Amino acid sequence: MSGFLIGEGWINLAYLVAAVLFIVGLKGLTHPRTAVRGNLTSAWGMLLAVVATLVANGLDYQWILVGAVIGGLVGGIAAMRVQMTQMPEMVALFNGFGGGASVLVAGAAYMIAVDPHTQMTVSTGLSGMIGAVTLTGSLVAFGKLAGLLPGGQIGFPGMKAFNALVGLGVLGCVGWLTVDPSAQIAYWIIVGASCVLGVTLTIPIGGADMPVVISLLNSYSGLAAAATGFVLMNNVLIIAGSLVGASGIVLTRIMCVAMNRSLGNVLFGSLGPSADGPSADDVYGGKVKSTSPEEVAMLFDTAQRVLVVPGYGLAVAQAQHIVRDLGNVLEERGITVEYGIHPVAGRMPGHMNVLLAEADVPYEKLREMDDINSEIAQIDVCLVVGANDVVNPVARTDPQSPIAGMPIIDVDKARTVVVVKRSLSPGFAGIPNPLFAADNCLMMFGDGKKAITDLVAALKEG
Ligand code: TAP
Repeated sequence: MSGFLIGEGWINLAYLVAAVLFIVGLKGLTHPRTAVRGNLTSAWGMLLAVVATLVANGLDYQWILVGAVIGGLVGGIAAMRVQMTQMPEMVALFNGFGGGASVLVAGAAYMIAVDPHTQMTVSTGLSGMIGAVTLTGSLVAFGKLAGLLPGGQIGFPGMKAFNALVGLGVLGCVGWLTVDPSAQIAYWIIVGASCVLGVTLTIPIGGADMPVVISLLNSYSGLAAAATGFVLMNNVLIIAGSLVGASGIVLTRIMCVAMNRSLGNVLFGSLGPSADGPSADDVYGGKVKSTSPEEVAMLFDTAQRVLVVPGYGLAVAQAQHIVRDLGNVLEERGITVEYGIHPVAGRMPGHMNVLLAEADVPYEKLREMDDINSEIAQIDVCLVVGANDVVNPVARTDPQSPIAGMPIIDVDKARTVVVVKRSLSPGFAGIPNPLFAADNCLMMFGDGKKAITDLVAALKEG
């Protein structure tokens, strides 16, 4: 580094503008109409912050450019190729790399500092700890979601006590680094032990809970970046890191509330069918009515209002485009078509919104759960495509159920419900769904895309 190339005032002004762009961008991300613009706004803010940092410090541009080009290419290609259902995996990797970068940058700044002061050593220790936990925790989350690691809960007896001891040991080393800034070994112990902690904290969590964990790790990666900002005394890094840290925690909370689970339950508990819950045979035995696309097409003859409720199976089947085509065909017949969106349908926040937006479904047709539930009795046909837990009425009726209290879309209160899925297999929570055996419910068994394609063909023929 060779000091400021232009006035410090200008650099701080650039940082301030970048921070405002981050905040305006985040605000834009809160609505589908402004989300793309919000993303771009924040990206411009980040570009401004990077350029201002380079100008401020007169850094060695060639190598930074080489790194930026290679990193940009890898990130760009990965983002273009990733399937929507793999998005949580990609976010996990990005979080992990963010944590790793904080460990390296904070560590390097501390190692080359001539006389590290207390603020620097405390924040270096914290950055090393949070960044390393984020790095290995995110890699485990990625491995579980990508099927490289077993998705179930893995652990050993005394794991919680082990984690508590390692955590206390790491905090002790942060204290050591603070009182003895020359003890570089303390930093390496912090990083090494935190890497272990990232694994042992994440590996016992079931693969299905990984989206919540990834959101939490996203928050950690922001906190690590903010701590690194204090190491470097870089305001924009502190602001950007704090924004990521705060928004990640808010998102984690929203996901937990939508599943009616505490964060502690996600991190240290388990989700699964209770041993004394009703079996699939009890719930379904002789009561399930299957139907065909031709029969469902006839149902629409008298329907005026249709609600499509998508779930994880829509994403697996990639049925969003054909669902949009179905909506168009029904609307041509004068039927009102809307889409009921549950906040945790699918496997990541906003999963259904993203899929339907990809298929150009107008966002004003998307109705949020609370909003549509008040009108559900007026729906003539509710078409559930690949959703299960988010429409399971036991959440309302069975206090012993693992999803008891989870808010659901009350599709069972519609006049007729048609459920599209391949079998009677359970969803994420692993429990039977009495909706499938309800009097007003018909099951259209099959892959989501194929079944809706057949339905559109039957409607066009009819
Ligand atoms: P699930 O309850 O997981 O049910 C999905 C259903 O899709 C399955 O029952 C499956 O039945 C069906 N399916 C799979 N592939 C299909 C295909 N090709 N065609 C048609 N159907 C297919 O999904 P949901 O209702 O969206 O609920 C989401 C669950 O994930 C909730 O329990 C939620 O708490 C949890 N979760 C969500 C998030 C976020 S942020 N979204 C995060 C963590 C956990 P078949 O195998 O019979 O086809």
